Amino acid sequence: MQFKIKTLITKEELSERVQELATQITNEYKGKTLHLICVLKGSVIFMCDFAKALGSEVDVTLDFMAVSSYGNAKVSSGIVKIVKDLDEAIENKDVLIIEDIIDSGRTLQYLLQILKERKPNSIKICTLLDKPKSRVVNVKVDYVGYEIPDYFVVGYGLDYQQKYRNLPYIGYIENDDFI
Ligand code: IMP
Ligand code: MG
Repeated sequence: MQFKIKTLITKEELSERVQELATQITNEYKGKTLHLICVLKGSVIFMCDFAKALGSEVDVTLDFMAVSSYGNAKVSSGIVKIVKDLDEAIENKDVLIIEDIIDSGRTLQYLLQILKERKPNSIKICTLLDKPKSRVVNVKVDYVGYEIPDYFVVGYGLDYQQKYRNLPYIGYIENDDFI
């Protein structure tokens, strides 16, 4: 079935906000090497645009990690497992976790706990979207692109049943009585 997707954040708005975040973070990490950890798959499009928008005053390295918490359902199961671990050690690195969206906060809480044990020099979180009303556990998020209402959103990396990740904007499903 095809769902009707309504735009929440346009392509142009996203590009402007991603640049703002990148400029702010460039200023804060000037002269350092920033190690970006992309949480697959949802964060991949945000991560690419964000990494390109960082200024030359920071050196950038990248790694990827995949965790699963949802399966194909739309409600948090509370179970988080590592599907793909990082390739490199993060000891003594200045790590920035790149997230697509923080909902219950469970994924991030789990990630932070295991990554902190690996002794990075610093670890911060940058999420494109935040749904503060859905928070179940308390996690400190350092950089937020947009706070959004408690809608199920798709596009710009975010999926519903693995689809819609390629949309260049953030949208929500209009006829969403199935949520
Ligand atoms: P949390 O553990 O509940 O914070 O969920 C985080 C993960 O759930 C995100 O990284 C997404 O992969 C997924 N997720 C949460 N809300 C949405 C949404 O509105 N659309 C698509 N994926 C979502
Ligand atoms: Mg994610």
